[in-house]
Amino acid sequence: MMDTLIVNIGQLLTMEGDGPVKGEQMKMLPLIEQAAVGIKNGRVAWIGSNEEAKTISASHLIDAEGKLVTPGLVDPHTHLVFAGSREHELSLKQQGVPYLDILKRGGGILSTVRATRAASEEELYEKAHVHLDRMLSYGVTTVEAKSGYGLDVETERKQLRVAKRLHQTHHVDVVSTFLGAHAIPTEHQNNPDGFLRQMVDLLDVIKQEQLADFVDIFCETGVFTVEQSRTFLQKAKEKGFAVKIHADEIDPLGGTELAVEVGAVSADHLVGASKAGIQQLAHANTIAVLLPGTSFYLGKGKYAKARQMIDEGAAVALATDFNPGSSPTENLQFIMTLAALYLRMTPEEIWHAVTVNAAYAINRGQDAGRIMIGRRADIAIWDAPNYMYVPYHYGINHVRMVLKDGKVVSE
Ligand code: NIG
Ligand code: FE
Repeated sequence: MMDTLIVNIGQLLTMEGDGPVKGEQMKMLPLIEQAAVGIKNGRVAWIGSNEEAKTISASHLIDAEGKLVTPGLVDPHTHLVFAGSREHELSLKQQGVPYLDILKRGGGILSTVRATRAASEEELYEKAHVHLDRMLSYGVTTVEAKSGYGLDVETERKQLRVAKRLHQTHHVDVVSTFLGAHAIPTEHQNNPDGFLRQMVDLLDVIKQEQLADFVDIFCETGVFTVEQSRTFLQKAKEKGFAVKIHADEIDPLGGTELAVEVGAVSADHLVGASKAGIQQLAHANTIAVLLPGTSFYLGKGKYAKARQMIDEGAAVALATDFNPGSSPTENLQFIMTLAALYLRMTPEEIWHAVTVNAAYAINRGQDAGRIMIGRRADIAIWDAPNYMYVPYHYGINHVRMVLKDGKVVSE
């Protein structure tokens, strides 16, 4: 006797397998046609054919109407918690003012820092809750959320407490990353090393208060150098954090190589990654998290070399990079379309990148991204006839229903 039985599944992407999926393997999609899935106590308890399902009883029956069913999506790179918005920067962008110049003028990230410092914890929670609801409606059941709009002890802790509370109260699982090294705040403009030392001290507090799993840094021209990033991430590792890097997003500084060197769980952006960096990445355990929504929105026509990465054997994941500046969207399905068009990823590769590999990019590979017996039943039921249809028909929401831990949480 099952609690819930999903029947009449046209295509079931189980993503069944072991470990992250690298290179060539990303082309092979574990898929069952005419399938059914049984759920008991919030976990997947049975997977079989639609025919066999007729002999199984369940308290609650869901008819997938011959459509697509997949694992709940995982968005492994977002800046979920912040105050305000930056629509006024759109006209600067249209005039051709580069992203890093807006930051240099005290706008960009620093404008969101001012708004976030001024906001109450409750305001930040309410706003992030709205964004998280929207992500869930698009099929996302696990997200990573970074701090980095505080750049001081109290506001960074405030942002991380909000993410932790969201994890506890919202259906979506939230994995937290401390990104105190996201920009140099105005009050430390001439003393980046002093600021980084302050952020290193904060690591102990964050560890003690269990406010983050990961530590990240923005390694970029005018922000933090490769040298500063290396020192900072090594300190974070010594203190027991797993690490990530915003690497080679705008200028090619060698952040990709640094990610491999320090054993980062993921290297994110990688638009300017060098050939050597890509080769090193392919032979390492670091997941390449690509953010084509950011390339699209920065509007420079430069995208990460996903084809080269996959051909060399790297494990690639995709994320929204949801944030108020370089990627204001919660829609991971739109990112899948961008990946098809501009990263030249195949639909099979794209589905790996938003499920299993995305889960491994945030150390949740054993838990999320696959529909397998014994795993938590985080499942998206789509109003799409097959998996290729989702990146193809763009800009709309194809999700019909989302189950989290076996319960219908969005429809
Ligand atoms: O991933 N690059 C740094 N951080 C974000 C942008 C944050 C912002 O503009 O507010 C990113 O693109
Ligand atoms: Fe980011």
